[in-house]
Amino acid sequence: MNPDSDIRFHHGRLRIGGLDAAALAATVGTPAYVYSAADIRARYREIETVFAPLNPLICYALKASGNIHLCRMLGGLGAGMDVVSGGELERAWLADVPMQRITFAGVGKTEHEIAAALDGRHSPLKNVGGLGTRNPIGRGTVGRFNIESSGEAERIERIAADLGVVASGSVRINPDVDAFTHAYTTTGKHENKFGIDIPSAEALFERFKHSTSLRLQGLHVHLGSPIATPRPFVEGITEVLKVRERLERSGHAIREINIGGGFGIDYGRGKPSTLAEFAVAIVPLLRPLADAGVRILLEPGRPIVGNAGMLLTRVQYVKHGPTKRFVVCDSGVHHLIRPALYGAYHFIWPVECGDAFVPTGLGDQPHEGLVKCDVVGPVCESSDFLAKDRQMPEVPPGAVLAVFSAGAYGMSMASTYNDHPKPIEVMVDGDSATIIRPRQTIGELIASELGEPRRV
Ligand code: LLP
Repeated sequence: MNPDSDIRFHHGRLRIGGLDAAALAATVGTPAYVYSAADIRARYREIETVFAPLNPLICYALKASGNIHLCRMLGGLGAGMDVVSGGELERAWLADVPMQRITFAGVGKTEHEIAAALDGRHSPLKNVGGLGTRNPIGRGTVGRFNIESSGEAERIERIAADLGVVASGSVRINPDVDAFTHAYTTTGKHENKFGIDIPSAEALFERFKHSTSLRLQGLHVHLGSPIATPRPFVEGITEVLKVRERLERSGHAIREINIGGGFGIDYGRGKPSTLAEFAVAIVPLLRPLADAGVRILLEPGRPIVGNAGMLLTRVQYVKHGPTKRFVVCDSGVHHLIRPALYGAYHFIWPVECGDAFVPTGLGDQPHEGLVKCDVVGPVCESSDFLAKDRQMPEVPPGAVLAVFSAGAYGMSMASTYNDHPKPIEVMVDGDSATIIRPRQTIGELIASELGEPRRV
C-alpha cells in the first residue's frame, strides 16, 4: 500500500475510501473488483504532473481495465484512450472520449475495425438501442492508428480512400531493445510480432509520402510491460529520435511521438522506479521536440489503475493436505490470471486482520505467527492459484481476502472458464460505492446458446 493510497488498513481492518472492505464485501458479494476513484485520479494527475514539461496527450491503455465508467472518469480528466480492438474503440467512444483523442493500436486490425475507426457509419453499434443520445454516425476518425505492418498501412489507405476520409498514422518502431520484463510481455525485440524494424519503417514513410488518404505523421514505440527502470525507455526513445531526424531530413514532417506505456508499479516484490524517476530520465530527451510543437503521447494503463484496484474474495474452505495448506476461495485464475500466466506476485491479506497483523506494505511481512498456504480458487486446474507458499495470518472459512494491485489486467483478462460468472465491479469514491458493472449472472452466461441451433 502506498502511504498516500486510499486503500489502507486502519485498526486492523482494510478500508477503501471511507468504507470498510469487509462491510462492502458483505453488501456487494464476492468475488468483487473494487476500485478507488481517488487513487485513479491521483495517479492520472501524477503522470500529468511529472510529464508536465512535455504537455503530453495521455492515452489511457484501456486494455488494463476497460470499464466504461472508469474510462469516462479518465476522459473527463482530459485523457485520451489507447484502444486495440473494435470493442475497445466502441467502449472509448461510449465513454464520451473524443475520437481525436483516440489512438488505435494493435497488430491485427480487421477491415471492419478500421472502417469503424474511420467512419461511424461502420460502427457495429449504429443499430443498437440503449446508447442514449450517442449516435456514432458523424463521429469522425480516430486521432491516429499505430501502424504495425506495411500490409496494415495499405489496408488503412485503401479503406480511407473508399470512405473519402484521411487517416492519420504513426508507425510503430521495433528498435530491438530488451525491456527486461516477462517474455510474454516483451514487445520491442525483433523476435516479437510487434512494430516494424527501422529500415522498413523508414521505407514505409517514403512509400506513403504522397498518399492523400493515409498521412504518416508520427512514430510510436512500446517495449513491454511492466518495465522496472527508465533505461529501456531511454534506449527506445533514443532510437526513435534518430529515426525522426532522418525522416525529417528526407522531407517527412513528424508531428507526434508516442512512447507507449509500460511504467512498472509496486506489487511488493522488487522496487521499480517511480513515475517521477521515469520522467526525470525521459523528459529531457523529448523536451526540445515538445517545445518545437511535436505532440508527445503516452499510453499508460497499469500505473493509473494497477494499485487503485483490488479483488475481494471469500474463503470457502481451508484444506490441509499432507504437505500443504490450501485456502480455497471463490475467485482464482479465471478472475486474475497474472499469477498463473506470468508467475506474477500479488500481495494478499485478510481484510479483517486485527491490530497485530497490520501489514507494513505490499510485500512479505515481518509478523510472527503467520502460516504458510496456497491461496487457490474453485477452477479444475492446478494453474488455479492466486499465491503459492504465502505467509498469511490464519484465516477461517468465511473470511474475506483482498488481492492487492489487481486493478490492471485483472477484470480485463477475466474469463468465465468452468462457467463461473464474471465478478461485480465497484467504484468507491469517498464514502460512496457504486456498482459500475453488475455481477454477471449464470443466465447471461448461457442465454445466447438457448435458442434453436441454426444451420449455416
Ligand atoms: N501501449 C501498448 C502498445 C501496449 O501494448 C500496452 C500494454 C500499453 C501501452 C500499456 O502498458 P501499461 O502502461 O499498462 O504497462 N497482461 C499483462 C500486461 C500486458 C501489457 C500489454 N500491453 C500483465 O498483466 O502484466
